[in-house]
Amino acid sequence: MHDPNTARRKDGLDLAALAAEGGSKVTSRLPGFHKLTFEQRVELIARMHQLTADELEVLRASYSLPNEIANQMIENAVGTFSLPLGLGLNLTVNGKDYLVPMAVEEPSVVAAVSFASKIVREAGGFEAEADEPLMIGQVQVTHYGDPTAASHAILAHREQILALANSFHPAMQRRGGGAREVEVRVLPAPEGAGGEPLFVVHLLIDTQDAMGANLINTMAEGIAPMIEQITGGKVYLRILSNLADRRLARASCRIPAALLADFDMPGAEIAEGIRQASRFAQADPYRAATHNKGVMNGIDAVAIATGQDWRAIEAGAHAYACSGGQYRPLSQWTVELGDLIGRIELPLALGTVGGPTKIHPGVQLAFKMLRISSAKELATVFAAVGLAQNFAALRALGSVGVQQGHMALHARCVAVTAGARGHHVEKVASLLVKAGSVKVDKAREILASLPSEEGHAADDRR
Ligand code: MEV
Repeated sequence: MHDPNTARRKDGLDLAALAAEGGSKVTSRLPGFHKLTFEQRVELIARMHQLTADELEVLRASYSLPNEIANQMIENAVGTFSLPLGLGLNLTVNGKDYLVPMAVEEPSVVAAVSFASKIVREAGGFEAEADEPLMIGQVQVTHYGDPTAASHAILAHREQILALANSFHPAMQRRGGGAREVEVRVLPAPEGAGGEPLFVVHLLIDTQDAMGANLINTMAEGIAPMIEQITGGKVYLRILSNLADRRLARASCRIPAALLADFDMPGAEIAEGIRQASRFAQADPYRAATHNKGVMNGIDAVAIATGQDWRAIEAGAHAYACSGGQYRPLSQWTVELGDLIGRIELPLALGTVGGPTKIHPGVQLAFKMLRISSAKELATVFAAVGLAQNFAALRALGSVGVQQGHMALHARCVAVTAGARGHHVEKVASLLVKAGSVKVDKAREILASLPSEEGHAADDRR
């Protein structure tokens, strides 16, 4: 390992102080982290989290998943697929610091979360909470006769249905979870008058620290014969609902406008730009979709790094965004007494056990860095990350626009595509931005004009 003091002298960064904190204090406030080399960042994180040699190897080997494990995870495996893994910095939620592992291909996502979290941190950090982990299993019943009579019959057998459901997973009940409630929904027939109304039994299940898909589906399938017996009907679908609206998480922040001043603009003007962006999304689904895409930029990245079912999270978020009858933003921003206030609420069906958490070494490492003790706590971090990401996007959109910042990052990718390596990447990227043409051909031209150094990837330049 590098001597951290050497690193401090070379970079002007207080790596020694940061490293000295390793083991005693984990902080997400790491000024200058982005200026370190890749290897220095890994070393710092390793010290801070007291990573074992094996864990360090997982990071150094680019988080690669061994083929044997990949082969156990899915069918027809022929390889693995990597994404860059970054750490979102500065995040503090309910007074606790979190270093957020984020796997994402889009430049600026990690920087945006870190930047936004820094401002919110100065304003006292995010506050967040999450509901109990209640998930919904759906059982569709047809040919049940009279819907009112069928509903009464189901509710009259509530205890038996719950007992049967829990018999399929007694361990979950012992851990304090399990099937909790039975509900009935009678919905208008989609064909219109004359069609049989839809009759759906909802089983509410506390899945504790699991996302719970397998457990829910097992219970939904398991109670189906009893549901048929009770109603005299025929059951078709038995599956979880990804509209996990009993398992919501919320985050909020309050930022004094003075902390927002930037781009030669007073903070109040930036706050007003964010408020206007929020109004736009509230009124217009075309804008709301993009607004929510920004929210999910952050949430998906941490979901992938922590091995979550991000399609389930996406499905739940967008369905929830429609729950009032119109697609709306998941977050809102207002200005009150000169402070900018942001709030977000969305379903977050997350797991800290099950799925890939026990087998994927990268996921295990992500949890170690996150220092999360429950799925509920994880949901508070996800919600805060979504709000931070959204804040960063709206702050730029409501003032100078996003292209200025995006272009600088995009230019780095273009430089690498053109064959730049090492120090040449930054150099080519900055010359591309200066030239106002962020194109691969232009990057090749710039690269060819630079004195060659070991950072060239000559083969790529063809
Ligand atoms: C781009 O990935 C995300 C944004 O479009 C989000 C937004 O418009 O709010 C910048």
